[in-house]
Amino acid sequence: MEYPRTAAVSKFMTLERHIAEEERFHPGATGEFSGLMHNLSLAVKLVWREVTKAGLVNILGQTDRKNISGDVVKKLDEFADETIYKAMDHGGHLCVMASEENEDILKIPENYPTGKYALAYDPLDGSGNIDANVTVGTIFSIYKRVTESGGGTIDDLLQTGVKQVGAGYALFGSSMMFVYCTGNGVHGFTLDPTVGEFLLSHENIRIPKSGSIYSMNEGNFERWSPKMQKYCKWMKQEDQATGRPYSSRYIGSLVADVHRTLLYGGIYCYPGDAKNKNGKLRLVYENNPLAYIVEHAGGAASNGTQRILELQPKELHEKSPLFIGSKEEVRIAGEFLTGKR
Ligand code: AHG
Ligand code: MN
Ligand code: MN
Repeated sequence: MEYPRTAAVSKFMTLERHIAEEERFHPGATGEFSGLMHNLSLAVKLVWREVTKAGLVNILGQTDRKNISGDVVKKLDEFADETIYKAMDHGGHLCVMASEENEDILKIPENYPTGKYALAYDPLDGSGNIDANVTVGTIFSIYKRVTESGGGTIDDLLQTGVKQVGAGYALFGSSMMFVYCTGNGVHGFTLDPTVGEFLLSHENIRIPKSGSIYSMNEGNFERWSPKMQKYCKWMKQEDQATGRPYSSRYIGSLVADVHRTLLYGGIYCYPGDAKNKNGKLRLVYENNPLAYIVEHAGGAASNGTQRILELQPKELHEKSPLFIGSKEEVRIAGEFLTGKR
């Protein structure tokens, strides 16, 4: 796509203006989608404000509630969950939402208008790391509704990932970033906290075709299938011709691990194992949006045998193995997992 090329102008491309310009690529756009993205960018700024205060105010620690996947929910998870819902419920852009922290779909209150989009989100990914001040983030996925009108249903959310019309994440790290794609490249913005604006910092991100980093929780090695174990061992073998061994990096925040993979290349894996057949990560809230981003940046994402974006979710919280990153590394992983190597 074409942007103004002078350094001074591109330096100050705000997220707001970028979203407005992206809309021009969608003939017949009504502005509804831009409004949705605008509200979302505000929502994640509110979450970020709270995350940065986490060490100062006494909102850390665990509540006694467990989320649908059985994890103990931390208070910041709840805050992020509610903040995003409240920022998005009244804009008139959405017909329904779903959050990783809630068992059922989240309806739009009856006194608010509904729109043609459905939103799924992981309000605070990697929240187990918060006490150690490690990078966490919010992941989101947007679909066009399939139901006709009024309040949406679960059918609007249980679509294959290829049907996403937008996806992205906010990253709460040493700086705060907003990375998104609406079908025309993957673009990254960094928050300038002094003016409260996201400024374009990573235009048209392309993942390297191949990379030398692998990222997985090797503590689960003994639970993995022999094929997965063989693949992992292969990555650690010395072979100068193919650039092995790979380097190992694992933050334990999916969104941060995938962001690094997007910029440096390589592969992130969360396979199924003897205890959790489909691994730990959720198809609707985590794998689909990240697969959409990585594919649009030139990479790939599979569950080992099938493309993530073509998996038909049957329930909101279902899990799937994830192999995501550079095309070459995901291809090699597939060869090991299907027994071709
Ligand atoms: P969440 O914090 O949203 O529940 O997600 C946690 C996920 C993901 O962020 C991370 O990569 C993964 O759990 C780590 O799992 P392990 O501790 O099993 O490696
Ligand atoms: Mn998560
Ligand atoms: Mn979460």
